[in-house]
Amino acid sequence: MSRPDVEKSKKAAAEKAVEYVVDGMIVGLGSGSTAEYFISKLAEKKLNIVGIPTSKRTEGLARRLGIRLASVEEARELDVDVDGADEVDPEFNLLKGGGGAHTMEKRVAEKAKKFIVVVDYRKMVERLGFFPVAVEVEESRKEAVIKKLAYLGGIPQIRDGFITDGGNIIIDVRFNIVDPRGLEDKLNSIQGVIENGIFSKRKADVVIVGEGDKVKVIKRENGRK
Ligand code: 5RP
Repeated sequence: MSRPDVEKSKKAAAEKAVEYVVDGMIVGLGSGSTAEYFISKLAEKKLNIVGIPTSKRTEGLARRLGIRLASVEEARELDVDVDGADEVDPEFNLLKGGGGAHTMEKRVAEKAKKFIVVVDYRKMVERLGFFPVAVEVEESRKEAVIKKLAYLGGIPQIRDGFITDGGNIIIDVRFNIVDPRGLEDKLNSIQGVIENGIFSKRKADVVIVGEGDKVKVIKRENGRK
């Protein structure tokens, strides 16, 4: 049997997420293709909202679509943040950073009352780690960081020709992830690491999974309502 169309699945999830936004909200605008479907659909609704972009690319798109914007520093709290992910496990832990924007994405998610993740069905996994962990690193510290990452059991690879919005490099690291929370902390304790793509402290509150034109909404018990 053929698998559902991936773009259709992303769009279905993104469109469902728009239902969570109403006039007057401060809304985190994620990065990546699924988040961009959300932003486009949101703009069509012409709501009176303020968007907080998570990357320069998202900022450009939202601006072109006429969404009013503010920076994460300006917002004390966000009503909702809608973002994509590379992997989601059954505990609502996430792997992000495929687009290299996870540092700002995490800062925005941490300030959100509700963090909604929109994904296509391929992103739902039993355990994180098929996808590499994106680690944003100061260029000048890369040799030392690579050694530490290997010491922690990772297989690091510099993302070729990629510079983040913050002017740093990304090292993608393959890990056998047994303790996402522990690994998130360990990676961030390495000198020269800015942020990594494991979202285990700030998990998703709601995951919207698209599969063809169907969507499944999964809410985390104890997640922020
Ligand atoms: C960017 C991200 C993206 O949200 C993630 O890579 C998913 O992207 P897409 O929706 O294009 O599959 O974390 O840093």
